[in-house]
Amino acid sequence: MRVQVGIVGAGPAGLFLALLLHRAGISAVNIESRSRADVEQTIRAGVLEHWVVELMGELGIGERMAREGHVHDGITLQWNGERHHVDIAGLTGGKRVMVYPQHEVLRDLIAARLAQGGEIVFEVSETRIRDVETDAPCIDFRRTAEGDSETIRCDYVVGADGFHGPGRQAIPKALRREYQKIYPFGWLGILASAPLSWHELIYANQGDGFALLSTRSPEIQRMYVQCDPADDIAAWSDDRIWGELHARLDTSDGWTLTGGKIFQKGIIPLRSFVCEPMQYGRLFLAGDAAHIVPPTGAKGLNLAVADVLVLSRALVARYAMNSQEALDRYSETCLRRIWKGERFSWYMTTMLHRNAEESAFEQRIHFADLDLVRSSRLQAGALAENYVGLPFE
Ligand code: PHB
Repeated sequence: MRVQVGIVGAGPAGLFLALLLHRAGISAVNIESRSRADVEQTIRAGVLEHWVVELMGELGIGERMAREGHVHDGITLQWNGERHHVDIAGLTGGKRVMVYPQHEVLRDLIAARLAQGGEIVFEVSETRIRDVETDAPCIDFRRTAEGDSETIRCDYVVGADGFHGPGRQAIPKALRREYQKIYPFGWLGILASAPLSWHELIYANQGDGFALLSTRSPEIQRMYVQCDPADDIAAWSDDRIWGELHARLDTSDGWTLTGGKIFQKGIIPLRSFVCEPMQYGRLFLAGDAAHIVPPTGAKGLNLAVADVLVLSRALVARYAMNSQEALDRYSETCLRRIWKGERFSWYMTTMLHRNAEESAFEQRIHFADLDLVRSSRLQAGALAENYVGLPFE
């Protein structure tokens, strides 16, 4: 197989890239270790920055999102039984976020890519990236466990294959610098059949720590509570989950969360991670392959799409104008935005969780941070600008 760009991975980074390249007349193929059903069903976060919403419209994949997604003008912060509304649209000149879950975005991306005749090979194994330091890089893979080994010959390889994929490992260890922070808490997430309890997302630090009230539809709600990442999900009965959600989300003026039937639950760890640089020879990393954020800032998918927007523009400059400069600066350009996303996700995470490893002094500082957002328009504006999506430089 011969294409201009070989993409390892069919998650948000890999698929957005394939669509962006197609628009510019650049050929690409995606290979993916998971099955299509897995990709389309894995439950992840669900907030899209304003420019991602616009980009989906431009790429012709915004129709279902416009129908089924939910536009939010702001978020609510809660601590000490009280709520504070952060008017994101008012603070950012009218920008809004979209609550539309990642697996729905993926369904739309896959359908659009297949409809334009693009190839996505699912369930590949034994993926090997090689010769990226030459002008003729290759990706070897097996289509099914029994199939013959195949090779994609391309001009450029993109590692959009997630944190555990082979992409990052194809950069020699001696040339890579990795930065990591593991948080001593995780999130227990649930999906419940219940009516909407509140008109916007609530990020709370109350009682024993963090809770998030989010939504999927008028009938299905998504909620999270801070827990020990080593907890066994079996230790969390429905009653215990509702008990914690009430303790962290109910207010002192008598508002109480509406319950329902929990039909899905799971625990995720929280981690921050960055790999520098994000390129080596003709290999470019994008999305979780190069960086992870804890979900508290809702930045994961948005940072992945930002990477491939930068990469697609650099590849267009390379093919259309024979200019190598933007490609050479890919990593540097992306990392400027990524570190700000890492900072914001860390800020939201530390401010909103109870961390047993911190002193009482540090814990009080986090409440001062929350109160600053309530009392200072500039602080609220900074939070809003980061949440809705920083401008591209
Ligand atoms: C979600 O709805 O799953 C969600 C929303 C906001 C976050 C994280 C997750 O910050």
